[in-house]
Amino acid sequence: MYPLHPCWSCCCLLLFFSLGVQEVPKEPSAAPEQIHLSYSGEPGSMTVTWTTWVPTDSEVQFGVQLTGPLTFRAQGTVSPFVDGGHLRRKLYIHRVTLQGLLPGIQYVYRCGSTQGWSRRFRFRALKNEPYWSPRLAVFGDMGTENPKALPRLRRDTQQGMYDAVLHVGDFAYDMHQDNARIGDAFMRLIEPVAASLPYMTCPGNHEERYNFSNYKARFSMPGDNEGLWYSWDLGPAHIISFSTEVYFFLHYGRHMVERQFHWLERDLQKANENRANRPWIITMGHRPMYCSNADLDDCTWHESKVRKGLFGKLFGLEDLFYKYGVDLELWAHEHSYERLWPIYNYRVFNGSREMPYNNPRGPVHIITGSAGCEERLTRFTLFPRPWSAVRVKEYGYTRLHILNGTHMHIQQVSDDQDGKIVDDVWVVRPLLNRMMYL
Ligand SMILES: [Fe+2]
Repeated sequence: MYPLHPCWSCCCLLLFFSLGVQEVPKEPSAAPEQIHLSYSGEPGSMTVTWTTWVPTDSEVQFGVQLTGPLTFRAQGTVSPFVDGGHLRRKLYIHRVTLQGLLPGIQYVYRCGSTQGWSRRFRFRALKNEPYWSPRLAVFGDMGTENPKALPRLRRDTQQGMYDAVLHVGDFAYDMHQDNARIGDAFMRLIEPVAASLPYMTCPGNHEERYNFSNYKARFSMPGDNEGLWYSWDLGPAHIISFSTEVYFFLHYGRHMVERQFHWLERDLQKANENRANRPWIITMGHRPMYCSNADLDDCTWHESKVRKGLFGKLFGLEDLFYKYGVDLELWAHEHSYERLWPIYNYRVFNGSREMPYNNPRGPVHIITGSAGCEERLTRFTLFPRPWSAVRVKEYGYTRLHILNGTHMHIQQVSDDQDGKIVDDVWVVRPLLNRMMYL
């Protein structure tokens, strides 16, 4: 070893202190990170999405053997994403769609390129036909800080409890923060769940910055609309994801409200033509039409723009969803859990007094936004509204088991009570006349 010249020591010291106040530069990495799955909407498919810090090839190697060589290969695309923050950080987002997967079969995969591979993950290919019983984890409003539901969701996922996740808007708080480093941290955090299950999303208000660019870039949802609205079939259900945010951020284009509304109507018409096959229609959107939280948000103190539309009359969704017989509407935004009685236009339409959710005569609403974030939980108003059936101000998430075309099971898990089920209800609808609420 050669002793350092005193001048060198000074230089090193200076360099050390000058780097101390900035980010220590690292080798840009070709190793895949932030790996997550989504369903592309095509039977027998699954899309793998991940991030690198240099442009590389995008390949997924997969097979059905837990160990040994991965026999299949699929190639995809890489596209740069430049965050809108002042550092203009650049990520490379890779997307590879696996096709021809055998329904219900477990696959092992790794993703990357010759410059770096991920570790191996496992997932089960979705079944294509309607006659099976999907299990979903449903929640919204989960942040990088205080994601209370995540440890249990990870355990549930490892135990094979779910077929998919529905994250009903508001991620990371916020993905664009700290020049999108919060988004990176969040995507790494959910990887143990999202690399094993299709992680299906809709945008929330926290994704708004730079015209939802972090949301659009980081997730790969079905269709060609950057994940803002899309639909897919899962067992006996048709699931529609849409953006409530088009009603609130009009500076990105008022035409978005109209475009989405017309898309929704066409999609609902098609879903009803196929209703004998897929009897349940489930929607997910971030901001609810009804809620009874004690905050200043629109559904407690103001008329909901989502419910009644712009100016209280243009492109409102309650009439549309009622007209086409939507069964279940999943919402978030309020950091609590609330289940409503079957409802239309503020009127309760229970099936009967004894069995309110047996043949309900209006859609059932669930607001599930208590997965945990830095904003903590939201209080309820002192007195529940007549249409409010159950209110839970505890961290947690919702389990949705679509048993068959007539029976659906909803449970709320409390993380404050170590996984206790704090709400439990079956929704039952006969197969005939599903489109009409009469
Ligand atoms: Fe929100």
